[in-house]
This record gives sequence, structure tokens and C-alpha cells, in this order.
Amino acid sequence: MPNDVNTTRVALGDRSYDIQFGSGNRAGLASFLRERTDSLHAVLITDANVDQLYADQLGDQLTDNGWGVHILVVEAGERSKSAEVATELWETMLAEGASRQSVVLAVGGGVVGDLAGFVAATFSRGLDLFQVPTTLLAQVDSSVGGKVGINLPSAKNMVGAFWQPCGVLVDVDVLKTLPDREFRAGLAEVVKYGVILDANFFAYLEQHSDAIHAQDPSTLHVIVERCCRLKADVVENDERDLTGHRAVLNYGHTFAHAFEAAGNYGSLLHGEAVSLGIMCAARLARRIGRIDKTFVDRQRTLLENLKLPLAPPDFDADQLVELMHHDKKVDGGRLRFVLPDRMGHVELVEDVRIEDVLAALKE
Ligand code: NAD
Ligand code: GLY
Repeated sequence: MPNDVNTTRVALGDRSYDIQFGSGNRAGLASFLRERTDSLHAVLITDANVDQLYADQLGDQLTDNGWGVHILVVEAGERSKSAEVATELWETMLAEGASRQSVVLAVGGGVVGDLAGFVAATFSRGLDLFQVPTTLLAQVDSSVGGKVGINLPSAKNMVGAFWQPCGVLVDVDVLKTLPDREFRAGLAEVVKYGVILDANFFAYLEQHSDAIHAQDPSTLHVIVERCCRLKADVVENDERDLTGHRAVLNYGHTFAHAFEAAGNYGSLLHGEAVSLGIMCAARLARRIGRIDKTFVDRQRTLLENLKLPLAPPDFDADQLVELMHHDKKVDGGRLRFVLPDRMGHVELVEDVRIEDVLAALKE
């Protein structure tokens, strides 16, 4: 077992679970599971890229440790987060003899995690779920917190559930094979955590951008662990997104989701849209007097140093505002935005004038 394995706990009463961090620690997956379940049958859900890189080996490791394993492979990409693919997975699980005693193991990025999590939440009224996230975005965000789901053709993440995993195993070693563009996209969510919750972490990112680019394992370890802890604190306070506390995680996302929709979910990666979105949100916050230019410049410089996009494609601003009205934070037809008032602190703000939103988009 590799050294330097840390664990943090998401404390949610009888739905509590551990997140384990390390470099190379996927070699200990079988023991990680054995400490947390009596099951001996795993439905391992992955995508076609991750299957060859990691899922096959993880399946073999479990088989060598006495598990029955069925590996179900979906096509890579957002389109797999669909009712059609979920149905295929349910049918295959039934045909392969999955039962209430089986566990679902999601090995992949956020697409696999959300889809496999949704299938786990619904098959046979709910199977235990374990997450092995393999993208930076999934390691710092989507594998933690229990939001699982699929898309409708007209609305992303519209059908889903809260279904907490029984454990999350994060191995930063797998990021070595992640395409550079995907790695950078994940960094947008990392910057987000600094802005919304932790000014010291933001400063750490400013000071370590070279090590981040070099994918130094100890720096990555610090980053994923800090992000997961910050997310865990939020989820512990507002597991079901009811009080507005969990909404802070959506900093920049009202803009980001509109950019993704305007590009038909094809031109921008989610993290790239988040980078553009948090710049719009910072400009909006400045416009309405919550922060000053120094804040906006600091955020822009960090995103620039991390090689994230800052200038949105040429979308129509009125269309973007219309798309923003599909946001889940919309209340009685009114847009609401998560906006900073200082580094490390944001609030959910109502009554923002559309003229200011349009100006923030065009600035
Ligand atoms: P993704 O799952 O599509 O993965 C990106 C690409 O990287 C895919 O082609 C995948 O095959 C490949 N890949 C994954 N791991 C790899 C590795 N180690 N080496 C090489 N290639 C690898 O995308 P993503 O950015 O991880 O996730 C995006 C999804 O996450 C979106 O659907 C979004 O809605 C969702 N999300 C969910 C939450 C949540 O709380 N549930 C939060 C944020 C985002
Ligand atoms: N990614 C937003 C949330 O988990 O609430």
C-alpha cells in the first residue's frame, strides 16, 4: 500500500462516509471496499476511455480478492448521461443478476459518477455506491456530496437524486493520463473553492501555479484534499440544497450553464464554462458595488496563469439571459446569483438588474 494516504470524513449521520486521498492508492481498492461493505458483487460502471486505462485493472484486482465483477462500459461524453443509457444499464444489471446485495462502483469522470450514481440510487430501490473519480473535476467536486442524475434533451441534470456514496477513493496518479484540456477545465472548480470559501487557499493557488501545471503529486494532493474538505463542510450543512448554503458551490454557474447551453454542450467543457462564468459573476459583483477592481483582476490573473479561458465565444447576450432563467436558483421567475463580497466569501443575491447582467456579459 503506498505511503501518504489521508482520509477525511463527510459527516452525515447514517449516511457518513470517508474520502481517501493518495497517489497510487487505487492499488488498495479491494481493502478500501472490504472495510466498508460485506458485498462480494460489484457492478463497475465506466466509460470507454477509462475502461482500458484503469477500470479493467481495478476489476481484476477485485476478482483476485474474491469479488464477482461485471464491468459495464458506456460511451465517453455528456450524451451518456441520458435516460436511454440509464435504461440500458438497468436492463444489463438485471440480466447479469445484480441484486440488493450488489454495489455500484463508478470509475470515471463526472459523467460516469453522475450516471452510475443515478443508476445505483434507482436500481432495485437503491444499491450502495462507491466512487473512484478519475478526472480533476470529479476528484474535487462531483464525486462528493451525493448529487447524481441524468440530463433531459432540453435540460441538464434535470432528473436525479441525492444518493451519497459509501466511500470515495481519490488517486491523483490517474490524472497523469487526463488530456491537458480536461485537467485545466477541472482547475476552474478549484479556483471557485478559493473564491467562495477560503482566501488562504486562493493565495496558495496563486503561489503554486507552476507546480499545478507540472502536476506535482504533492501539490495535487493538497489541492484535491482541500477542495473535498471545503465541499464536505458545505454538504454537511445543507445536504439537500435547501437553505441556500449549498448554493454557494454554484458561483459562476448561472452564467456557465447558459454558455454551455448556448454552445449546445459541444463547444465548451463544463470547467471552461465555469471559468468564463466566474469572471462574469465577479464583474457583476463589481458593477453592483460588492467588490472592487483589484478582486476582479486577482481572479482573472489566477485563471490566466492556469491557462483557463476568459473570453466567451460570441453568443447573443439576450439569448444567454433567457437561458439563465432555466437555472435551478431562479425563484418566482427572478434570477439569483452567487456573488462575492470579499475573497473567500459569497452570498446568494436577489434583485439583480438585467441591465447589470447584460453589462457583465459584454464587459
Ligand atoms: P467526463 O466525465 O466527461 O470526463 C472527461 C473526459 O476525460 C472523458 O472523455 C473521459 O473518458 C476522460 N477521462 C476520465 N478520466 C480520465 C483519465 N484519468 N485519463 C484519461 N482520460 C480520462 O467529464 P468531467 O469533467 O469529469 O465531468 C463533467 C460532468 O460532471 C458533467 O456532466 C457535470 O454536470 C457533472 N458534475 C456533477 C457534479 C455533481 O455534484 N454531481 C458537480 C460538477 C459537475
Ligand atoms: N456541484 C454543486 C453541488 O454539489 O451542489
